[in-house]
Amino acid sequence: MSKQDQYKRAAAEAAFEYVVEDEYLGVGTGSTVNHFIDVLAEKRPRLKGCVSSSEATTAQLKKAGFQVETLNFAGDLPVYVDGADEVNPRLELIKGGGGAMTREKIIASVSERFICMVDPSKQVDVLGAFPLPVEVIEMGRSAVARAMVRLGGSPELRQGFSSDNDNPVLDVYGLDLTDPKAMETRINAIPGVVTVGLFAARPADVLVLADNSGARTITR
Ligand code: A5P
Repeated sequence: MSKQDQYKRAAAEAAFEYVVEDEYLGVGTGSTVNHFIDVLAEKRPRLKGCVSSSEATTAQLKKAGFQVETLNFAGDLPVYVDGADEVNPRLELIKGGGGAMTREKIIASVSERFICMVDPSKQVDVLGAFPLPVEVIEMGRSAVARAMVRLGGSPELRQGFSSDNDNPVLDVYGLDLTDPKAMETRINAIPGVVTVGLFAARPADVLVLADNSGARTITR
């Protein structure tokens, strides 16, 4: 296992401690979450079911024998576990490297505790070295891209990709994200934007950070 995978696995094991039995569990998307699902499969907690943030996660959960319920059915969740592409000291995040941020944001918004698993490569002082993913409605793709340029960014259409909601994603480079909450509000207001991958209005509650010395948690 690579060092990076060891960190992800250690973060996933530490995040497992936050799982609440006899409830629905929100499960995010990405390579760190894949380790978390492996941990779930080994430890087999007693769950009412899982709410999944992507088709890929749903497939992996089902393969491991977990029941996947819709969020409409499950309602509010005690815990949501996911990864991130970048995290700042206020536990504000950039997400959407895998293009799953719309469902991720909906689940995060109804979860009491958002547990975010990262390795040190994701930690930054100021968000924005990672290009900001923005899911858009196809007909508004160019209009949103021009609006991104007016905000100071350089948008690039993610080639050969469409989200689980069948929408294109723009990856926006070079935005000034020193005030992530303000930028999230501004981008949310652009017609044609489905979801911006900034999680600042609803940041993580607990960061599980794994490195050479093991996993530790940082709480907001
Ligand atoms: C999925 O769209 C993203 O929000 C992921 O949570 C993020 O990309 C983290 O993925 P990794 O765990 O693969 O780094």
